[in-house]
This record gives sequence, structure tokens and C-alpha cells, in this order.
Amino acid sequence: MNAPHTLRLPRPDDAHVHLRDGAAMAHAAAATAAQFGRAVVMPNLRPPIRTTAEALDYRARIVGALPPGHAFEPWMTLYLTDDSDPAEMIRAKASACVAGVKLYPAGATTHSDAGVRGLRALDDVLAAMAEVELPLLVHGEVVDPDVDVFDREVAFLGRELGPLLARHPRLRVVLEHVTSEAGVRFVEQARPGVAATLTAHHLLLDRNAMFQGGLRPHLYCLPLLKRSSDRRALVAAAVSGSPRFFLGTDSAPHAEGAKLAACGCAGCYTAPVALQLYAEAFDAAGALDRLPDFASRFAAEFYGWLPSRDEVVLERGATPVPEQLPFGDSLVVPFRAGGEVGWRWIG
Ligand code: DOR
Ligand code: ZN
Repeated sequence: MNAPHTLRLPRPDDAHVHLRDGAAMAHAAAATAAQFGRAVVMPNLRPPIRTTAEALDYRARIVGALPPGHAFEPWMTLYLTDDSDPAEMIRAKASACVAGVKLYPAGATTHSDAGVRGLRALDDVLAAMAEVELPLLVHGEVVDPDVDVFDREVAFLGRELGPLLARHPRLRVVLEHVTSEAGVRFVEQARPGVAATLTAHHLLLDRNAMFQGGLRPHLYCLPLLKRSSDRRALVAAAVSGSPRFFLGTDSAPHAEGAKLAACGCAGCYTAPVALQLYAEAFDAAGALDRLPDFASRFAAEFYGWLPSRDEVVLERGATPVPEQLPFGDSLVVPFRAGGEVGWRWIG
């Protein structure tokens, strides 16, 4: 088992991130742009990003909020709704700025109320996406209240994703933030063109962490953290060297007050220490040598991006994580707040 002191890798890409909007966006976007060369930016604003024109406006706001001279490239996504139409998919692809279209089953998660209620009625939209090679990015959880919240991903695979892949054999699909062993097996065995993102928090923690010594609202995210056997399957997938599994933080900041509420929001804000967290997970698995492809190559290959141009360096060593960080007019509590990460960002 190797335990290098220094870790060098091509600048990584984050294939799934929430940058929000308005004043908070400047902080979230700067944190992501400090580590990643490119990111796939989720469209679940209020109102959601539904058209290519809205995505291009949002992209301009993100770029405008970054310090001048930044090389960060945001790749945009459209929010699929029951009213989405095929022509918009063709415009999205032609923009060369939209990486994919996000499917939120209505009610599955934060700002998903405008999401999809009748997936089968969207077959013409999905066919257009397959035709122009615009990937579908899936929040893979059923919303059926009769299904236990810990089983909603597994139920989605059989009820929705399997049939969808069969109906659209050429559609490229990313099962976002896969959290279960069954999800890993599904993606491993799926036809070509099916991939998954893995978050750092799901690689590092199981559901016990949410209740350790009390209720831990900052570890509440969707899909929920799962069993330790699921976590082990996610780690095995991440370090497997399979190009189907790549880095997507799902960093999802919420103002502190929105987390610490009677009905708190889902999301972990990992962006400020994202690569350090992945390095911890890969190091614990004795597989640091697998991190560069997972973090810097496989997403680019999936999305057809050029190889990363520059390099980043981490050094082994405990680094404190602040208790809070600025977030627009408010504050956000980052993942590991008040603790430390095992790697230092050198740049
Ligand atoms: O934990 C989550 N937070 N999961 C999601 O699917 C959405 C995200 C958010 O936007 O806050
Ligand atoms: Zn997300």
C-alpha cells in the first residue's frame, strides 16, 4: 500500500454541483472554481433553469461572479419538466454550453416541485436528447410515500430507470449521486452510455453519522446516507478504475438558518474541501493512485471535454475547516466544520 506525502493530479472536474444564485452564488462558485477546472451546474433554482436562454444567462451570472482571469468553465444543465419540448433539447445541444438535462421526480428533493410527474409522457423529449447526444442526469429516487426513504433509490432502479433505459437504448444517462450497493451493481451491469457520480460524503460516511450523539442536520442530504455495506460498495466502485464512476460532489450549500430549522433543507456543503475529502476516501481504501482518473479524467471522457490542462497538488497533513463561511448575506456551515481534513491544498 503506498502512502505518498504529495498528490499531484490534473485539475479535477466536478460533474455535479449546486452553485445557487444571487449573493450566495459568488461564495459557492468561488469555492468550486478554486479547485475544479469545470463543473456541471445543477438547474434547481427558483424558478428552475428550463431553457437554453435561461441557462446561458445563469452561466453569465456565474462567470461574472468569479474573480477576473478565472479559467473555470461552468457547464450548464436544463431542468426537465412535464412541459419540456424536443426543440429545446436541440437548442441546448447547439449552444455547446449545456452538458445535460436533469430529471428530478417532482417532490424528490430541494426545489423539485417543478419536476417530472409523468416520465413516460416525455418520451419524445428523451428521444430528441438521445438523437443529439445530450445526456439525462437523474436524481434516482421514487417519491412514493409508501416506499421507505432509505429504499427510494433502489425502488427507482427497477420501477423507472430500467424501463427508461430499455425505451431509449441510445440515451446517455448519469445516475447522479449513487448511494446504494444496488445502484452500483445497476450501473456496473447497465448497457454502454450509463454512468454515475459519487459524492465525497457518501464515500466517507454511513447513516449512523447522521445520528452520532444527537441529530446532525448538516449531514442530512438527499439521497440519504445509507448503510455501511452500501458505503463500502460505493468506495469499491470509486477505486475500481471503471470509467462509469466519476467525481460529482453534489456540494449543496444552504444558509445556516435553512439547515437549522424545524424542517431543515437537504445538502452538504463540501466544495471548500472537496478534493481533500475524496483524497481521504481513496487513501483509506489504499487506492490514491486511482484518484486522478476518477477526479480528472472519466467525467471529461463522458462529456467529451478536452483533457485537463493544468495540475493541482495536495500535501498530506491535517488542515482545519472553519466553523462557518460567508454565504451571501448569511453564513454556511461547511462539511467537517470545526474539524480537520487530512490533506492540505497546495494549489
Ligand atoms: O442534498 C441535496 N441537496 N440533494 C439534492 O438532490 C438537492 C440538493 C440541493 O439543491 O440542496
Ligand atoms: Zn444535487
